[in-house]
This record gives sequence, C-alpha cells and structure tokens, in this order.
Amino acid sequence: MRASTDPRAATADRYRQFAEVEARGMSACYEAWASGVADDPATVALIDRLPGPKRQPNLVFSASRFHGAPVSDYEAFAAWLAAHWAEVEATCLTHATQTNEPGRCAVLLPALAAIPGPLALIEVGASAGLCLHLDRYSYRYTAGDGNGAVRMVHPADGPSPVLLDCRATGPVPIPDRLPNVVWRAGIDLNPLDVNDDADVAWLDALIWPEHADRRARLRAAVEVARAGPVEIVRGDLNEEIEALVARAPAGATVVVFHTAVLAYLDEEATRRFAATMGRLPVRWLSNEAQKVVPAVIERMRTAPADSTDFVLALDAEPIAFTQPHGRRLHWLAPSLATGSLTTGRV
Ligand SMILES: C[S@@+](CC[C@H](N)C(=O)[O-])C[C@H]1O[C@@H](n2cnc3c(N)ncnc32)[C@H](O)[C@@H]1O
Repeated sequence: MRASTDPRAATADRYRQFAEVEARGMSACYEAWASGVADDPATVALIDRLPGPKRQPNLVFSASRFHGAPVSDYEAFAAWLAAHWAEVEATCLTHATQTNEPGRCAVLLPALAAIPGPLALIEVGASAGLCLHLDRYSYRYTAGDGNGAVRMVHPADGPSPVLLDCRATGPVPIPDRLPNVVWRAGIDLNPLDVNDDADVAWLDALIWPEHADRRARLRAAVEVARAGPVEIVRGDLNEEIEALVARAPAGATVVVFHTAVLAYLDEEATRRFAATMGRLPVRWLSNEAQKVVPAVIERMRTAPADSTDFVLALDAEPIAFTQPHGRRLHWLAPSLATGSLTTGRV
C-alpha cells in the first residue's frame, strides 16, 4: 500500500508522498496543495478529524473540488478549506475514491483482442462501468515517444465519440478490430450510476484539475454508457464473482478483468481472489500497481519497481507495463507476451 493511502501513516507523510510521487508531473495544483498540507499543522489537524482511511489526499482534494475549490496556490486552498470544512468533511465521509478511467481500456484492448472470442466480460471494481464499454470506443496508438507510426482502431459501426490515445512501445499486438463482446457485467462495493447526475459530478471531481482531456473523455464515455446499460452487481468481488461467472452465456470466453482495484484489498483477500481466478473457467486480466498482486509479482522477471506504472498480467503472467491512466503501454518480450495470450490458463 502506498503511504498516501495507508490509513496508519501520519497525515503529513501521506500528503508529502502524494505530492512527490503521485502528483509530481501529473498535477501542479495537487502537488502544491499536498506539499502545502504536509508543512501546515493547522490543515493537518483539520484533516485528522477524519477517520484514517478518509484522510487520503485524493479523497480530500476531490471532495474540495466537488464543492467548488478553485485551482489555486496552497495559501488560497488552505483558506478555502478552512471556510468549507463542514461540506468537505461530509462528502469525504459519504464518498470514496472511485475514479473511473475509460483511458485504461487502451492498455487492456491488445490483450483482450488476442483472446479467442466471443467474449463475456466481467469487471470487478467497475465503479460506473465505463471500462466495460471498451468495444464502443475508438483507439489511437502512437509508437515510441509519440512521434512514431499511428494505428487507429474503431468500432465496427464507425468512429466513436470517445477516442483513447495511447503511446505504445515494445511488440504490442495492436488489433485490426475490436473484440466481439456478447455479454458484460460488473461488480462493485458501491456502483456509481451513469444516469445519476450527482454520481457523474463526483466522477468529474475525481479527475485531477489540469486533466481537461480526461474530463472531456469522461463526459463522452458517460453518453456511450447511457446508451448501453450494463448491470453492476453491488457487493464484494470475492463474494460475488463465482455467481456472476456462472451467469455468463455458454460458448463465450469469460474474461474477468480489473484495473486499479486490488490495492483496496488486504493481502488475504487478494490471494483469495487470485486463487478463485485459478479455479474458475475464466481468463484473468489484471492491471494493477506493481506491488499489489503476489501471484503476478512471483512471475515478474525483475523486482517490482517504485515506479507508479501498473503491470498488466494475463492469467497472472506479466505482459506489459502501463501508465496508470492508460496513456502509455510498454509490451514485454514477445515470448512472454504472445505465449500467454492464446494458450489458456497458466
Ligand atoms: C479506483 S476505482 C477503479 C474503477 C475502474 N476499475 C477503473 O479503472 O476505472 C476502484 C473501484 O474498486 C471498487 N472496490 C474496491 N474494493 C472492492 C471490493 N472488495 N469489491 C468490489 N469492488 C471494490 C471501488 O468501489 C471502486 O469503484
């Protein structure tokens, strides 16, 4: 668990780690706010009124943005927070960090498209389910540093209003077409509803201030999702997965996938989920931070790095490193990559 999300870590340490590791290079505003909090005992004391799990920087900042905190320097934010603490506190207590990032579909797609279909998709930790619509989005993969060859992939009925950009390095098996998805469903402790404006406003507030491209993409993806409703079962992934897999249609390859979810589980729950994936007749596609899934760590050729990059793994076999919001994908050696895509369970 990262210090910023570790409820036992001191609040100042959580905010400093968030500033230096997560926000740096991603959000100048959140980096300034978080390092300001870390050095400001008055604001730390305010945040310490929350229970440990709710002191998370991403939650406090998102709740602040939800209530209208403007992008500003730290001094202005500290004054705003002190004046609006009651609203921010109430929102922190009733909401959770459930960022739903359709951009992550760009790193899932090459793996999914190489699995023999038709596919039945189950996403655990689906939030509002935006990643379950990955066959309804368009993709633009650019090789190398962003100046290389460009490959577009569109839905069968033409370009989607949601265009996902991804820089691709290594031997990425970019598909010619999107997979044939015949059934889809999700599980979440607290499903968000794309038809509920308050839920969509919360999803918007979870996007970091400078990420205008992600905000526009969220709005477009919500429209796509509204046009094709998907069931998201409310409950714990370990409790609900077996029953949901049993509901998938016969003749389809069931793929259970998750991105940015297992970090919320303790190690025992993560091991239980991995064991379930090994036992059920499914393919298991995992996209999580490098130190999160023991079954994947055991198969990594190098020790997990401190980098914020996720590792994409199919049936626990690492196949790529991915930028956490899906902006970048680095495919591993072809022997690793292609061997595990089509041969079934490891
Ligand atoms: C950071 S969000 C990621 C959402 C989505 N996978 C994405 O990448 O856009 C993590 C989600 O996992 C859900 N979650 C966390 N623990 C869970 C559990 N034990 N069972 C089901 N869902 C869980 C949370 O409610 C939240 O919606």
